[in-house]
Amino acid sequence: MTETDGFQLESAFEPFESGRLSLQGRLVRAPVWSATADEDGFVTDRTVSFYEKLTGHGLGLIVTGFAFVSSGSRAVPRMLGASSDDFIPGLRRLADAVHAKGDKISLQIAHCGLNSDPAYDPDGLIYGPSLIALTGQTQIEKAGKLRKENAHIMRSLTRGQIAQIIDDFTDAALRAEEAGFDAVEIHGAHHYLISQFLCPVFNKRTDIYGGGSRQRANFAVEVVKMIRRALPEMTLVFRMNCEDFTPGGIELADSRVTASLLAEAGCDIISVSGNNPLRTRIVKPEKEAYFREQARVLHEASGLPVIVTGGVRSPRAVYELLHNGYAELVGIGRPLIRNPDLPERWRQGNFKPYECISCNSCMGAAMEYSVRCLRMDQPEEGEGQ
Ligand SMILES: Cc1cc2nc3c(=O)[nH]c(=O)nc-3n(C[C@H](O)[C@H](O)[C@H](O)COP(=O)(O)O)c2cc1C
Repeated sequence: MTETDGFQLESAFEPFESGRLSLQGRLVRAPVWSATADEDGFVTDRTVSFYEKLTGHGLGLIVTGFAFVSSGSRAVPRMLGASSDDFIPGLRRLADAVHAKGDKISLQIAHCGLNSDPAYDPDGLIYGPSLIALTGQTQIEKAGKLRKENAHIMRSLTRGQIAQIIDDFTDAALRAEEAGFDAVEIHGAHHYLISQFLCPVFNKRTDIYGGGSRQRANFAVEVVKMIRRALPEMTLVFRMNCEDFTPGGIELADSRVTASLLAEAGCDIISVSGNNPLRTRIVKPEKEAYFREQARVLHEASGLPVIVTGGVRSPRAVYELLHNGYAELVGIGRPLIRNPDLPERWRQGNFKPYECISCNSCMGAAMEYSVRCLRMDQPEEGEGQ
């Protein structure tokens, strides 16, 4: 089937229900740090207008960029905050703005663990499951913000601190409910704290939180259980790496175990990602939807609906994911930075070639000021029609 032989993408605009969450379609705006909060993490006018641009175009669900659950647990500047009740009015304003256009919004909550920026911690420390050797050479160090020069400020979490962080996640989820969000997404991917607990490279613990894959999942499971107990009706999404793609990291066999434990703990939807989530050079159809096979496996392991994100670029890829049973929901990140109205174009049968070239310049722009497509400023010949 080609994109010109009458192929329609109706399935992407069919409703989806999970508990009290009712979506108008299957396309999900993947969590993307917009870098539009103020320096303390409060929603600004820029945050509201950024999310408003995504509304009204047929997305089923808009997931926010990650919001920190405690003040020292943030990785990047201008990240949203959910660590105190002071954040609720701004978050409510954001949720109201999205609801005003008839769209749904989920708050992603995160603790960045050893990838936190020590500048935000009151004592200038960074915390993770265990102390790990930093040489400046491992893939984990090269990929993240964990640097050799930070070895002396790294601390392993005590049991008391772990209990506190589980409470922090629960309180952040309660604030999402209070602010009117439709769902909560727990960030358990990308080698932030929960993902560090799941990953044997980071997790060398010998207590109930370390060991085999079941033990390493205990922290994630406790976070889900506590939130579920506090919010019996809230739709809970858990974002996880299907694989770490890192020597010594988790493999699909591990994430199968985690996904089934999360389902037992009360999670409603699994959002499938992996490390590195931001692949480049998605130049042919086979390169699209790069975690699709793993998404199907995690759906089977958990019995839960899954969102698959990563490299979905064309309507044909969306069609195949939905029709061939890879996923119930399809996440899109970088292309919506360039073209927030993409779902609307597809709904109207406008399948002109995608413009996002997955160059990741949007990430650099977010570090500088706020997320945007830098190629948009300088369209090359033949593109940007
Ligand atoms: C600028 C930027 C910020 C991101 N922020 C987050 C985030 O806050 N939370 C998260 O789970 N993933 C984040 N991601 C990863 C995306 O959710 C997504 O997995 C990734 O962009 C791959 O999907 P895509 O090919 O559709 O862009 C971010 C990606 C980009 C480019």
